[in-house]
Amino acid sequence: MTTPNLGFDLTPLTRTSPVGKPIDLTSPTPLTSLRNKTILITGGASGIGAAFAARWASHGANIFVADINPVSGAAVVASLPTPLFDKGQKHHFVKCDVTVWDDQLRLFQEVVRLSPTGGIDAVVPNAGIYEKRSTATGRGYEDPVRLDQPGAPEPRLDVLKTNLVAVAWTVHLAMFWLPRNGEGRDRHILLIGSIAGITPLPGLPEYCAAKHGVTGLWRALSGTGWRHGVRCNLLLPYFTDTPMLPWQGMGLLAGAGVAEVRDVVEAGTRMMADEGIRGKALAVTAPAGVEGGTDGDGTRVLAEGEEVKVVGTGTGKDGRGRREAVWEVMAGDYEHVEAFVWRFVRLMNALIVIRGWVGFLADCVRFGWFRRREEEKATRERRRRRAEEGRKNKTW
Ligand SMILES: NC(=O)c1ccc[n+]([C@@H]2O[C@H](COP(=O)([O-])OP(=O)(O)OC[C@H]3O[C@@H](n4cnc5c(N)ncnc54)[C@H](O)[C@@H]3O)[C@@H](O)[C@H]2O)c1
Repeated sequence: MTTPNLGFDLTPLTRTSPVGKPIDLTSPTPLTSLRNKTILITGGASGIGAAFAARWASHGANIFVADINPVSGAAVVASLPTPLFDKGQKHHFVKCDVTVWDDQLRLFQEVVRLSPTGGIDAVVPNAGIYEKRSTATGRGYEDPVRLDQPGAPEPRLDVLKTNLVAVAWTVHLAMFWLPRNGEGRDRHILLIGSIAGITPLPGLPEYCAAKHGVTGLWRALSGTGWRHGVRCNLLLPYFTDTPMLPWQGMGLLAGAGVAEVRDVVEAGTRMMADEGIRGKALAVTAPAGVEGGTDGDGTRVLAEGEEVKVVGTGTGKDGRGRREAVWEVMAGDYEHVEAFVWRFVRLMNALIVIRGWVGFLADCVRFGWFRRREEEKATRERRRRRAEEGRKNKTW
C-alpha cells in the first residue's frame, strides 16, 4: 500500500510552532507569564505533579492539586509558596479519583468556582499508575487464569483506565473549560506521556498502550486545538526517580541512570511558561554525556557551570563535552502528512473561514433587514403617539 506523502508543511494551518524552528532550549524560560495563571494538576500530590506545583507556585501561578490521596494532596498544597508580590494568589486541593467521571466533572466546576482568575488557564493530566502485576510476577494482563470457567470476570485494566481513559476525560473537560477562561488568556494542555509512549516497554503492556494512547491524543489535538485557542504539548519522561518507580525497577536500571525530576520540571515549565510553544513534545532522559561540540541541528548547554542542563537545538559553541537530558521529539509531525490529514486540516481551516463569512452575512441580514424594520416600526409608533397627543391638545 502506498500512502501519499504530500510533503506540505501544515504547521501554519495547525498554528503549531514552526517546524524549521525547534524549541530553543538554550534560552532562558520566560517565567513571568506563569504569574496569575490558574493551573490544574491531577495527581499533584506526589512526584512529578507535586514538583510542578512547587515550581509554578513559586512564580505566581494559582495551583489546584487534584488527587485521590487527600493527606499528601493537602500537605503539598500547604507547602506551596505564595510570593509576597501577589496577595491574590491562591492554591487549593480537591480530592478526586480521576477514574470516576463524576469526580472529574465536579473537580473542574469546583476549580472554576474557587479560581481567583474565574477560570482555568492550563490543565496537566498527570495522575498515573503502573501495573504491579506484570510479566515478571507471572500474573496480570498477559497471564490470564481460569478463563475457561463460566462467568470469569473481565480484566480490570486499571492502568489503561487511569492513564488513558481518565486522561481523555480530563482533556475533554479541559476542552470545555479552557476556552471559557477569558479573552486573550493563554490556554494550555500539558500531557504527561512517557518514553513508553514511543518505545516498547515489555512487561507493562497496559502502561505502554496507555502512554502510546496519550501520544496519539497529543498528535491529533495538536492539529486541531487551535480552533479553541488551546495549545497542546507533550512531555515524555524516561524512568524518573519518583514514588511510582519501584525498587525492582530501580534495580533493573542500576548503572544505566534514570531521569531526574528537576529536568522533567524544567522541560514542563518551559512548555507551560512559553506561550509560543504549540504542538511540541519534549523527551526527558537520564542525563547523557555528549561528546564534543555540535553543529547544524546539534544541542547546546542551557547555562554554563551547572551539572546537567536542559538543552535545545542550536549551534554548539565549542568542543567541550557536556551532559544533556531534554530532547525535542516528533518535531516534524505536521511537516510531511498523508492525504487524509492534509485534506482534513485544510477543510477545518476552510470551515472556519466559511463560518466567519456565514456569521458576517447573518449579521448583515440581521442588522440591515430586521433591525432596520424594527427601528422603522418604532419611529412610526413614536409619530403616531405624537399625532394622537396633538389631537388631544387641540380638543382641550
Ligand atoms: N516516574 C516515572 O518513571 C515516570 C516516567 C514517565 C512518565 N511518568 C508519568 O508521570 C506522571 C506522574 O507520575 P509520578 O512519577 O509523579 O508518580 P507518583 O506515583 O509519584 O504520582 C502519581 C500521583 O497520581 C495519583 N493518582 C493515582 N491514581 C489516581 C486516581 N485514580 N485519581 C487521582 N489521582 C491518582 C497518586 O495518588 C499520586 O499522587 C504519571 O502520568 C506517570 O505515568 C512517570
